[in-house]
Order: sequence, then structure tokens, then C-alpha cells
Amino acid sequence: MTRVRIKDILKTTPTNQTITVKGWVRTFRNNSFIALNDGSTNNNLQIVVDFTNTPEEILKRITTGAAISATGTLIASQGKGQTVEVKATSVEIIGDSDAEKYPLQPKKHSLEFLREIAHLRFRTNTFGAVFRVRNSLAFAVHKFFNEKGFLYIHTPIISASDAEGAGETFHVTNFDLSNIPKDEAGAVDHKQDFFGKSVNLTVSGQLEGELAAMAFSDIYTFGPTFRAENSNTTRHLAEFWMIEPEMAFYELKDNMDLAEEMLQYIIKHALENNLEDIEFLSQRLEEEEKQKPQNERSELSLLDKLKFCIDNKFERVTYTQAIEILRESNHNKKKKFTYLVDKWGVDLQSEHERYLVEKHFKKPVILTDYPKEIKSFYMRQNDDGKTVAAMDILFPGIGEIVGGSQREERLDKLETRMSEMGIPVEELSWYLDTRRFGTCPHAGFGLGFERLVLFITGMTNIRDVIPFPRTPKNCEF
Ligand code: 4AD
Ligand code: MG
Repeated sequence: MTRVRIKDILKTTPTNQTITVKGWVRTFRNNSFIALNDGSTNNNLQIVVDFTNTPEEILKRITTGAAISATGTLIASQGKGQTVEVKATSVEIIGDSDAEKYPLQPKKHSLEFLREIAHLRFRTNTFGAVFRVRNSLAFAVHKFFNEKGFLYIHTPIISASDAEGAGETFHVTNFDLSNIPKDEAGAVDHKQDFFGKSVNLTVSGQLEGELAAMAFSDIYTFGPTFRAENSNTTRHLAEFWMIEPEMAFYELKDNMDLAEEMLQYIIKHALENNLEDIEFLSQRLEEEEKQKPQNERSELSLLDKLKFCIDNKFERVTYTQAIEILRESNHNKKKKFTYLVDKWGVDLQSEHERYLVEKHFKKPVILTDYPKEIKSFYMRQNDDGKTVAAMDILFPGIGEIVGGSQREERLDKLETRMSEMGIPVEELSWYLDTRRFGTCPHAGFGLGFERLVLFITGMTNIRDVIPFPRTPKNCEF
């Protein structure tokens, strides 16, 4: 008999039909009631076992964590908390689970503990909900761009360039590390390496994305990116997924409009398709917040926060305006920032971003026109000679969720800026070709997928929204 998913069974009208379900036992009470979960939903299916007719040998093996198959009739449930249940005619143990040794006990475990057993945490309510939502968000990204006629392009993971120019790359080599070939000057001889030169894991698919946009007009990438930055925060991963659209004939405003539309579309998709899981996560967050002092609790529940984001336009302000707001804020005057805002030109810290979003505007904010010194070489230079056509989107509780810009399409300006910033012009000759042949205004941005998942699930640590997080000194599983 074919297996039916629990999610579907829970929506079925019971007419004493015979069904078979398979899944993992969450709990087994009174030698009679199995709470079975197969990951299709957070809700368990109750299987009622007739212990007088079930061999003792089988009953003993229905333990938390065991994989079982149950066949029986679907009936309306007498008990509280579920509408249907299965009256089992047979239960088969597929895989035993030693209850003494199984790390997931039917009780609340801390997220820190569950991170250590990330290979099993998929089986908890919280992570079940998080990863079903994550799946749905990935689908929504593709759906959004597909509906808009964007071409999905696969940019390389191994790359010879550092797109952000920040030098935070992981090297890729097949050298025997205990015997690295050296050249005459004593430097590592990459000519003998697998690719014949020094290469790394990509930090961004943008540069290759721009090449494709110069032919297909509207493209996006969605893939893993890698950063060897030693940031041990709740917002940084060494391996994260990024969505990077790139559009020909777009200027900064078009770029902002697209990013805002995309974010609202994805949030709406989640509310329409994952409400059950989001409601569960909203409740989870509320419970968690009860541990905090009143003034640190969120003003809105997770659900209300998400609805707020789709119902309200994002605030758009320039970097210069933001600096003014921060400098004049009581927070700054009372020296409550770790980094005080004193002059134009300083890079914004996450405490500043969060102040703007959470305290000042109380809504998502798009900051534009940053000083060129604190942004990447490829951003289009504004006429003031000081700023570039950059945009960052800041979200409550997250800080920067999107980073993007209009690109410098003028060859001479781009080459000059690259030289000033020490970016090797010859090595990026292929990139510059798009400016030599049929250049045009274009723009794009990068959305950090895990930061989006964090926002929509209401989780607070980025390690809890990617199945197997990679962070400094940590690469398990
Ligand atoms: O601001 P970033 O560095 O921009 C770029 O990489 C551009 N090439 C994007 C583009 O214009 N095509 O990164 C973009 C986003 C950030 O806003 C943030 O959401 C996320 O990627 N991000 C990280 N997420 C998790 N861990 C990290 N270490 C991240 N670094 C950036
Ligand atoms: Mg950025």
C-alpha cells in the first residue's frame, strides 16, 4: 500500500478508509497513542494502537525516534487537538531507536544544544518549521523572477576574482599542503597548481552576472557564496546563499523598486503558503521574548511584523541624511552607541543601522548614495565626486539584508577607480569588455538568503536557518 503524507491525511475527511503512513515516532503514551511525524507538517498524526492485539515485542519497539509504518482506518478523533486519527490494524517497525541513547527527548531543548546535533534537529518542531519555510522562500524567489521574465544564470563557484575586492576569500588548490611548490623568489608557484593560477571560492556572482545581463537584459543568480571574514556574529556565515539580480537599462531607482517589490512578494508568498509554520514560529518567539525585560521585547509579533512589511512602503533616505539623523539623535548625544557618529564619511555599524530602522523610522529603510571610500569599485560615481549610487536595505532585527548599486558603466571612470583602489585592471579585462562593447546603464543587488530566512522565521541566530552552518572554527557535518 502506498504511503500518504501526514499533511494530506490531516486534511482528509474520515470515512473509515484504510491508509498507510510512515514516519518517526515523537511520543508513545499509555501503550496506545503514537504521535507520528513525517516532516510534511508540524502536526503529528495520532495512531491508536490496540495493545491487546499487538505483540509485546512490537509495543516495546515503538520508541521516540523510531521509524515505523502503520496501516489502519482513518476515523474522526475523539481526543482533543486533532480532528482525525488512525485506528491501527498493523504497526511495523522500520528502524529502531534506542530511547536511552536518542539525543532528542520529548521536551524543550535549547537551540545551542540542537546546533550541536544539527544532524537530528530537522526532527524538531522548530527546525521542521524553519526549513519548510526556507524551502518555500527559495521557491518564491524563483517564482518571482520567472514571472518577471528574468533568466536564471549559474555563475561559477570557483573563481579567479574577488568581486568585492575585500580580500576575504578561501583559496582553492589541489597542492599537497605539506609540500607546496615554490618559484625562484620563494613564493607559492600557482603555475603548477590545478588551474595554473591562484583561484578562490566566489564571494559573489555579480561580475559574471553583469556579463549575462549585457546580453539577456534581466538575469539573476541564486547560489552559495563564501567569505573568509572572521565575523563571529549572529548575522554572518562563512558559507551563505545569495540572490543576485542584474538588470541592463536600470538606474538606481529602478533597482530599489525591484528589490522592494521582490521582498514584499516573497514575504506575501510565505504568509500565503506557510501560515501554519509561521504562526508556530510567531508563538515560539513570543514565548522566548517573555524571558526578556519588557523594554527589549518586540513591539510587534512576528506575524504582525511581516504583515507590516508588505503593507508599507520602505523609507528611502540618503547616507548623508542618515548621518544627520544619527548625529542629532539622543542616543548619540548620550553616548549610547559603541561607535559615536561624529562626521560624514564613517561606515555605519550595525548598531546605527538598527537604530535607524527600529527606533527612528520603525520600518524597512533603503539607504542610498554612500561615500565612495566605503563601497566597492564597481559602483557608479555620482556627480558630486564624493558618493556612489549604492543602496543598502535595512530590516528590523536584521540590519543590512540587501546590498546593491547602479554599476559604473563608463570605462574611463571605472578604470580610474579600479587603479585608485588597487584592483588589477588587466585581470578583469573580460569584465571591462562589457564597458568597451555596447556598454549601458545597469544595476543589481545581492540579497542574503539566510538573513531573509532569519527575518521571516523570527529566529535570532543565522546558524539556525541554514541546515549546516559554517562559521569560524566550525565546520561540522
Ligand atoms: O553587501 P554584499 O557584500 O554585496 C555583494 O556581494 C554584491 N556583489 C551584491 C550585488 O550587488 N550583486 O552582500 C550582499 C548581501 C548582504 O546585504 C547580506 O544580506 C548578505 O549578502 N551577506 C551575508 N550573509 C551572511 N553571512 C555573511 N557573511 C554575509 N555577507 C553578506
Ligand atoms: Mg554590503
